[in-house]
Amino acid sequence: MIIVIIGAQWGDEGKGKVVDLLADRFDIVARYQGGHNAGHSVYVGERAFVLRLLPSGIIHADSVCVLGNGMVIDPKAFFEEVDQMTAQGVSITPERLKVSSRAHLIMPYHRALDHTSEERLGNEKIGTTLRGIGPAYEDKAGRRGVRVADALVPEVLKLRVERNLEEANRIIVLYGQPPLRADEILNEISPLVERLRPFVCETSHFLAEAKKRSKKILLEGAQATLLDVDHGTYPYVTSSNPTSGGAAVGAGIPPHHISGVLGIVRTYATRVGEGPFPTEMLDAEEATANLIRQRGNEYGSVTKRPRRCGWFDAVATRYAAELNGFDSVALTKLDVLDALDEIKVCVGYEIDGERVETFPAVSQDLLKIKPIYETLPGWKSETLGATKIEDLPIKAREYVEFLSASIGVEIGLISTGPERDQTIILPDSVMENWFKA
Ligand code: IMP
Repeated sequence: MIIVIIGAQWGDEGKGKVVDLLADRFDIVARYQGGHNAGHSVYVGERAFVLRLLPSGIIHADSVCVLGNGMVIDPKAFFEEVDQMTAQGVSITPERLKVSSRAHLIMPYHRALDHTSEERLGNEKIGTTLRGIGPAYEDKAGRRGVRVADALVPEVLKLRVERNLEEANRIIVLYGQPPLRADEILNEISPLVERLRPFVCETSHFLAEAKKRSKKILLEGAQATLLDVDHGTYPYVTSSNPTSGGAAVGAGIPPHHISGVLGIVRTYATRVGEGPFPTEMLDAEEATANLIRQRGNEYGSVTKRPRRCGWFDAVATRYAAELNGFDSVALTKLDVLDALDEIKVCVGYEIDGERVETFPAVSQDLLKIKPIYETLPGWKSETLGATKIEDLPIKAREYVEFLSASIGVEIGLISTGPERDQTIILPDSVMENWFKA
């Protein structure tokens, strides 16, 4: 069984907790795109883990974790995280952590170029995480990137770094920054690459062999559908493909081996960075946004940036369900809405006076959207920690049913708090089968 798990909105839907819950049932957890721009917080009892590059499965001693070929890996960030997790008592060995030889490395000049690129865009900047993600993917598509396998051969690493740096330095200097030095970069990267060597693996072969032995594999998307470079709110997107098609490419597995797709949807929406956000709570709704931000702790787990908050957008989420082919949805952060008198759901868009039911491609249109809302009553009582659907107030149940109907997919799991046991699994759902499998 191979299940893909993907955020349906603009990220931070609470994937970390759901992957953590499922990881117990799976033998392997693999990431297939992105890098340390991601940030999952996972709470286990008193302990909080922040994961950026490593799949959430790493917390489970029995899971093997894979960083797939579709990822971009900053070796410094990788070992910072490995060391941090080790200090928190997690055992990380090459037996349980495999890094694709075909993944690309993020180099110090990629970080510098991420800064200059944002500076060049000025008011139209993307609001990236400044981790060098975009420039590393640019080099990959430009066929000059440094793959893990290349970096393991010192002459190749030296050649690539020297050649790429020549070009990178022209841009870096143009923006008034001091040029970077190839020898310094090599001195920094080479020992890290040597430390990486035992973890390096032909991960698609590893996954194919695991599949033959009927191992259960979870493919963990980072970022989310509306940040997908093809399908998201371009150009305000990340540079990879979090959507389910990207999982096959980025993990190196045949698409027809994927047995199911699980969407993570939050009861409201957030976005970090710039870009269109049709249901954003602005002006008169700022107080509600602040309340949600506080109750939902909506601050970047890595960058600490306050997240922009908005109402649930059924048009965008239906689009995500269709694109990814969600078989089931996990609905997160129900308890965050406990305090609201009423809750709005965007059920359609109006653009230039016309009603639109599909998600527009043109960024100018995205900025012109007037959301058409339906207002549902709040339940004004505590759902925190509920473990059975019957324990939820009727109005909360109606809200969940409304969301499910509006996106056309079953909601198979409801998260009612950050802890593992603050979870409802709906009986007779596809999700329940995945948990039983
Ligand atoms: P980049 O991925 O650093 O290039 O940033 C591109 C856009 O994706 C920016 O708007 C970021 O805020 C956003 N982004 C990247 N990673 C995440 C994430 O894990 N959660 C939410 N937004 C993200």
